[in-house]
Amino acid sequence: MIIIHSIKHLQELTEIVRKKDKTIGFVPTMGALHQGHLSLVKTSMQQCDYTIVSIFVNPTQFENSSDFKNYPRTQEADTALLYEVGVDFVFIPSEKEIYPTPGIRTFRFGKIGAIMEGAYRPGHFNGVAQVVSRLFDIVQPDMAFFGEKDYQQLVIIKQLVKQMDLPVEIESCPIVRESDGLAMSSRNRLLTTEQRAHAPLIARTLFEAGDKIKKMSINTLKEWVAQTIDADPYLKTEYVEVVNAVTLHPLKRPTEADIMQLCVAVYADPIRLIDNIRLDKICKSKY
Ligand code: PAJ
Repeated sequence: MIIIHSIKHLQELTEIVRKKDKTIGFVPTMGALHQGHLSLVKTSMQQCDYTIVSIFVNPTQFENSSDFKNYPRTQEADTALLYEVGVDFVFIPSEKEIYPTPGIRTFRFGKIGAIMEGAYRPGHFNGVAQVVSRLFDIVQPDMAFFGEKDYQQLVIIKQLVKQMDLPVEIESCPIVRESDGLAMSSRNRLLTTEQRAHAPLIARTLFEAGDKIKKMSINTLKEWVAQTIDADPYLKTEYVEVVNAVTLHPLKRPTEADIMQLCVAVYADPIRLIDNIRLDKICKSKY
């Protein structure tokens, strides 16, 4: 495994790989790695000849400076995990390397960028698009791997690739959960013992909602999800939304053609957790 800090060094290596006509898989991360990240890495290693993992806590996607400051940074443990998995290259750039000048790109994603995370974290997806497009420019991967844990981000990245007509294939990877259902997240390690004990209620509620959708309207279901989570003194929902999984349009009366995704953001104060689930079965008589 080679750890790389400069763009120049990275590109010397990727040039050699490309000359050998080998494919490059790319997994961008902000570090504090867990099995969720590693599932992306393993999928890339199965599908591509070489895998590059980047670790960069991107300041432009944090609208809150204390969230950026407190974001867990565990570089030694991260590189040890990646070494164990057998990754080829780990790219750990400095802020100067990624953003040599502050005047960087602005993106417009329309409605898909304006709801849910886009509404509650203004500027967040612009920051994500800035760093991901910059990393794609640098790495020029054949494929890039993103988790469904950040469902809206995944849809935005697909849109970004379309908008910029980038020659990279985006692969989505399923959410990896702890044994009690909690979606793995770098932020989970910031939870207190009590918060950690209560947080699995989020996933449990989403799973139950997957059954209740057969018997409830979307609005009643959303209310039930919010009330169930908010009844816990350690948790407070910020939004509960049911959207079309492809277009991210909020759904009120879904048709049979709608693939539904239930998405939530929940505060275990001050830590913000997100989760989502595909809602499969609609009881047609209800709509
Ligand atoms: P980060 O939160 O480190 O996540 C990196 C990738 O891992 C993302 O694609 C995310 O969806 C995926 N991931 C995280 N937890 C997961 C889980 N439990 N199961 C499956 N996949 C999971 O997302 C970012 O970083 C940043 O926004 C980034 C894209 C790197 C841009 O800075």
